Amino acid sequence: MKNKIVAGNWKMNKTFPEAEELLVAIAEGLDDMTLETDVIICPPFPYLEMAADISEESNFTVGAQNVSYMDKGAYTGEVSAAMLKSAGADTCIVGHSERRAYFKETDEELAKKVNLLLANDIVPIFCVGEQKSERENGETFNVIRRQITQGLFHLKKEEIAQVIIAYEPVWAIGTGLTATPQQAQEVHAFIRQLIEEKYGTETAYNMYILYGGSCNPGNALELFSCTDVDGGLIGGASLKAEDFIAIINAAETCMKND
Ligand code: PGA
Repeated sequence: MKNKIVAGNWKMNKTFPEAEELLVAIAEGLDDMTLETDVIICPPFPYLEMAADISEESNFTVGAQNVSYMDKGAYTGEVSAAMLKSAGADTCIVGHSERRAYFKETDEELAKKVNLLLANDIVPIFCVGEQKSERENGETFNVIRRQITQGLFHLKKEEIAQVIIAYEPVWAIGTGLTATPQQAQEVHAFIRQLIEEKYGTETAYNMYILYGGSCNPGNALELFSCTDVDGGLIGGASLKAEDFIAIINAAETCMKND
């Protein structure tokens, strides 16, 4: 039985003291738990090192929300994979729909980001997901296939084995609309099948596929109980220690039920 992963994506929220307060509250909450779930916290760049320091005394690891597709050099404002690693990040979100939409990130750039992360020993959390109109037009599977093929299928088997995929239907992100467990399961199973066709059964089985999009303490257990849902990528609900811990508890319950 695989363990679950619960990752918190703080997005562009919290000042430095607020971030510290939240990290400490989460660390305290986790202290009382014997965890089988892998907990990852992805704060904004300036808080990575602080998060990494606090994580040393706790049972979570730290991830970034973005990385440059350039290696290093004269690229003002960019943050490289090597910098993330040296600041304590072990994972990094890539291709979040907000970055695809607002910052016009292309599949080609995302593939470069994945390569740089892997070269720096950072696990990419590669996000995919369809927009509302695409779902309504019956294009969900085509969109997911394109995103996975273009962003990840240049990787060798041993490389893709290190990647985490997050399915985040764009219409469910920050909207309070959640995919039903059936909708989530259907797309997760499709993603696993794509991986299986290209890389074989073992790689597909071992692949972590997280669900994201208005996941909260009230729906986490039901979503995480789906066969192909290996945990969650949590936005809004990761900004409150209590809610985030409740979601981690749902992942724990799920593993015990299995
Ligand atoms: P949400 O965000 O949980 O606030 O919907 C999820 C995400 O964008 O990763």
